[in-house]
Amino acid sequence: MNSTAEFPGAKSIAASISADAARLSDALNQHMRNSFQPESRKTLRKFHPAEVSELTGISMSNLRTRHQEGDFPDVETDSRGRRLYSAEEIDLVRRVMARTGRNGEAYLPGRRDGDALQIISIVNFKGGSSKTTTAIHLAQRYALRGYRVLAVDMDPQASLTTMFGYRPEIEFAESGTVYDALKYEDPVPLSHVVRKTYFHKLDLAPAGLLLSEYETETAYALQHKIDPPFTQRLAIALDEIEADYDLVIIDCPPQLGFTTMTALLASTGLLITVVPSMLDVASMAQFLEMAGETVRTLEEATGPIDWSFLKYLIARFEPTDVPQSQMAGFLRSILLDQVLNTPMLKSTAISDAGMTQQTIYELEPSQVVKKTLDRVLESVNGVADEFEKTIQQAWGRRNE
Ligand SMILES: Nc1ncnc2c1ncn2[C@@H]1O[C@H](COP(=O)(O)OP(=O)(O)OP(=O)(O)O)[C@@H](O)[C@H]1O
Ligand SMILES: [Mg+2]
Repeated sequence: MNSTAEFPGAKSIAASISADAARLSDALNQHMRNSFQPESRKTLRKFHPAEVSELTGISMSNLRTRHQEGDFPDVETDSRGRRLYSAEEIDLVRRVMARTGRNGEAYLPGRRDGDALQIISIVNFKGGSSKTTTAIHLAQRYALRGYRVLAVDMDPQASLTTMFGYRPEIEFAESGTVYDALKYEDPVPLSHVVRKTYFHKLDLAPAGLLLSEYETETAYALQHKIDPPFTQRLAIALDEIEADYDLVIIDCPPQLGFTTMTALLASTGLLITVVPSMLDVASMAQFLEMAGETVRTLEEATGPIDWSFLKYLIARFEPTDVPQSQMAGFLRSILLDQVLNTPMLKSTAISDAGMTQQTIYELEPSQVVKKTLDRVLESVNGVADEFEKTIQQAWGRRNE
């Protein structure tokens, strides 16, 4: 039977798909225009003393005493008289401690004289392997810990950008994404697209669909030898703002195309996220093989590529799932200490919060069952803290 006969009135399946796409896209645009209010930007919640203590390393009692002695500025109190701190105020506390506390330097974890900006790509070409979730949680955790962080969205799907409360389809339809700084014709300085976010110390270089142009333009540029080549474009763009940050966290798309290679070649370190299932691990092996080959070819042309570290993160891990645990063990037996000891646990707190574009750091603790939140915080903080040691090592610091 002819396939078009099943769709009376439609010329072909292709035409029918195009018509569906157009209808959906119109309806979505309309919906977004109706619900989009630029003034309704996201804001960040305030933090309790126990959280401030955990983030800064100041004991709860010291925090209280220093307040009584007037060393710290007054902060808001809740109905039960407990202090509540904004991220800015946490930073202020940290700076006072750095100036006046014993071993003050320990309160400032960021770059010191001579330390290179750390640029970290979160990568894997398996879709849904927790790249964006990892990128945003690390970026937020490190901002709360006192680092100056730039999150770079290199995925035209722009999930990371959406997590920051933007509607890329509307706000960055024409311009305003990292593409503007990477494009071959009239690129703009990266600072023109970088946005402050509602998260203190965390800026964003957004993505949008337009970024997908970079793939085709790069193929053309290679053919016509347009300089600088893709291998240098992000590195050059980041150079402009390098003094403003301690860490750059790049969320990569789920392909090993020019966009991902551009990110990898600008990076000082890589974090590969992997869900410990047979299919995901097989896919990662393929990714590594292809990436290795591409990098070798590039190295022949441009000289050695010098990453400070390559780490693997076991993501969306369910410890009670026996095949997953076996696969995690298998990965560790082969990749050894390149695999972070702490896995990122699978948790409804992450997936549910993701639906409303929130992370576990943005959730009000009262919004989630305490046990669920504590468990996931322990896991994600554990991942971030362990990986932070790798970053500190790249700066030549011993980890106490
Ligand atoms: N630890 C976790 N616990 C529960 N859900 C998770 C966890 N990590 C990720 N998810 C969910 O899995 C889905 C895919 O995650 P995410 O978007 O981070 O993957 P990705 O690798 O960035 O995907 P893509 O390849 O499409 O960019 C999301 O719905 C996310 O909320
Ligand atoms: Mg993603």
